[in-house]
Amino acid sequence: MEKKLRIGIIGTGGIAHAHMRAYRLLDDVEVVAGADIVPGKAREFFDEFDMPKAEAFESAREMLRSTELDAVSVCTYNQTHAECTVAALEAGLPVLLEKPMCVTMDQAAEILRAEKKSGKFVSVGFQPRYDPNSKKIKEIVSSGVLGNIYYVQTGGGRRRGIPGRTFIEKKTAGVGALADIGCYGLDMPLNALGYPKPLTVSASAFNKFGTSPEYNPVDYKRFDVDDFSVALIRLEGGITLDFRMSWAMHMDTTGATFFLGDKAGFKVMPANPEKLWGGAWDGTVGPMTLYHDSFGIPTETPIPYITHNVNLFGEKVKAFVEAVKTGGPAPIPTSEIIYNQAILSGILESSESGHEVEIVIPKI
Ligand SMILES: NC(=O)c1ccc[n+]([C@@H]2O[C@H](COP(=O)([O-])OP(=O)(O)OC[C@H]3O[C@@H](n4cnc5c(N)ncnc54)[C@H](O)[C@@H]3O)[C@@H](O)[C@H]2O)c1
Repeated sequence: MEKKLRIGIIGTGGIAHAHMRAYRLLDDVEVVAGADIVPGKAREFFDEFDMPKAEAFESAREMLRSTELDAVSVCTYNQTHAECTVAALEAGLPVLLEKPMCVTMDQAAEILRAEKKSGKFVSVGFQPRYDPNSKKIKEIVSSGVLGNIYYVQTGGGRRRGIPGRTFIEKKTAGVGALADIGCYGLDMPLNALGYPKPLTVSASAFNKFGTSPEYNPVDYKRFDVDDFSVALIRLEGGITLDFRMSWAMHMDTTGATFFLGDKAGFKVMPANPEKLWGGAWDGTVGPMTLYHDSFGIPTETPIPYITHNVNLFGEKVKAFVEAVKTGGPAPIPTSEIIYNQAILSGILESSESGHEVEIVIPKI
């Protein structure tokens, strides 16, 4: 039998459990080590999975120095994504990095530099890409049926759904709703469009609910990130992207995603807009419709929703493992996601400065 791939997990909090469960579905992979800066947390994690032989560390670099590994999952909070990813790349290992890529463009540049220097790849963890409906959206948008696409409206989020824990402070999360679910909201249309380069952004970000004792009684004193944002982004190719993202608002939905082209329009409904938490965009999509003229008559063609039981998280981890075995390329490469990150950073910069800003992509 082939030798099993040896995986290390950095950050053994909430989402590390989903990584572990997904790796455990694969016969040719073994999670052999984990590191978390909270003393005892990595050991507890392995105890939960009844894995006494797995090695537990309190420092990622110590794990990388003392354990023979083939690949790493970085599951830390956003602010430490870059330092942990760079450490793994410096140890010569490919990385499955949880979304969002990181917090600042300086951190993004550090990741790209380390990736280039090491020759190993980083894949960013956007599991909604593996939803057959997301694949259908990309197929339709990239088919040319819409003609020249000039406007896209997207975003979504939740009526009530501020997560708490490490998600609501700059020191750990860096960014709020924007990074947590906004990165998905951007990835769906940008991936469908072939990730055009962002050029400028004009935006406002707010924190009306997170800082309110009425709406966030447990955590309002800690809350210092965004809970709603709106942005107009110019993309290369003459496309304007209109984006809204919410963790909390007095509204059921920020609306559907739609693409306007000079031949047809395409609408993607949010999944479960009626749910307070599920909200309009947590990475899943609802029914779709194509708007076009037939023999001069405005016509609507429904695109049936594909019901499926694909394990999206499992597919994301499987695709990473396959890429590790073949030496790449990354299933979801940083060369694309740097544009997603640049928009998130641009939204905060524009909001803070109060005017439109140019998006500068670091040349690495
Ligand atoms: N793909 C998804 O569906 C999904 C869902 C939830 C969260 N996430 C992402 O996963 C990441 C983690 O979220 P979470 O809910 O697990 O958070 P969490 O706070 O539960 O876990 C993060 C863990 O990382 C540890 N950590 C932080 N810095 C570290 C470092 N330098 N070295 C080692 N350990 C370190 C923390 O101590 C903590 O235990 C976030 O970036 C989040 O956006 C993704």
